[in-house]
Amino acid sequence: MEKLEKLKKERNAIILAHNYQRPEVQDIADFVGDSLALAMKARETDAEVIVFCGVDFMAESAKIVNPEKVVLFPDEGAKCPMAAMVDASSLAHLKEKYGYDVVSYINTSAEVKAASDVCCTSANAVKVVQSMPDGVIFTPDENLGSYVKRFVSDKEIILWPGFCPTHMGITVDDILELKRAHPAAEVLAHPECSPAVIDCADKVASTEGMVNYAKSSSSYEFIIATERELCYRLKKEMPEKEFYPLDVAICPTMKKITRAKVVRSLEFMKPEVRLSEDIIRRAAAPLQRMIEIGRE
Ligand code: 13P
Ligand code: SF4
Repeated sequence: MEKLEKLKKERNAIILAHNYQRPEVQDIADFVGDSLALAMKARETDAEVIVFCGVDFMAESAKIVNPEKVVLFPDEGAKCPMAAMVDASSLAHLKEKYGYDVVSYINTSAEVKAASDVCCTSANAVKVVQSMPDGVIFTPDENLGSYVKRFVSDKEIILWPGFCPTHMGITVDDILELKRAHPAAEVLAHPECSPAVIDCADKVASTEGMVNYAKSSSSYEFIIATERELCYRLKKEMPEKEFYPLDVAICPTMKKITRAKVVRSLEFMKPEVRLSEDIIRRAAAPLQRMIEIGRE
């Protein structure tokens, strides 16, 4: 911890961490949040170095919104499998076929963002699609896109068949089993879950949305249908409430970053996120448009 504090000061660095990061990483972060909050924080920080603890597309987004900063990504192997399910050239073909604008979930590569018209996160997907003048191609998460369709009936939404293996692993039976043990608990589900799981939920929200909902709810017990590490932050901020995670809900990619790797990245100033100027310029516009739309 001493070494970390010293390095942070020397480098004028800020540590940003996603809600699914290991507790040891969340505990050393200056800010912990969902994808939207992290992109916003990366844009507004005046630190010279951002240490990004999350997955590849999040670290890239931090670089895109703040290209003059050094963005360190402590484990380059932390790649989100959903983001790898769509590529820029297949997307271009689909765009040519339908002629619609592309709404890309932030869980995409910088190249895919550069080929998109606007980005969204789970915290504003409905609002972003509602803001579009015509039909859209929604990529890559089919479940999030299907969820958006429940609220948008005035335009065609073409879905890409991508998915999150972690959220798709959560079943209705998993939820019902926990519900039998804790009948008073409210079910909070991430929109990356299957439509059947979403149908069982009392509240569907991004990870930050779940934190905010649990704070404002009069309930004392919650079943958390998303990556289980979110429960660490929930319990830390609401020790008087109970949060029941699902055993299956683990994102191995999010667990790649450790406290030791964070210290090492600051010591050696690598691995660093590097993107071409052209990609940064083209990907910045859809990300900026998303940030301006804000939260649902
Ligand atoms: P949030 O933006 O809701 O934190 O979700 C990010 C993510 O990768 C979910 O799997
Ligand atoms: Fe990607 Fe799913 Fe992990 Fe989120 S939980 S980073 S979508 S694999």
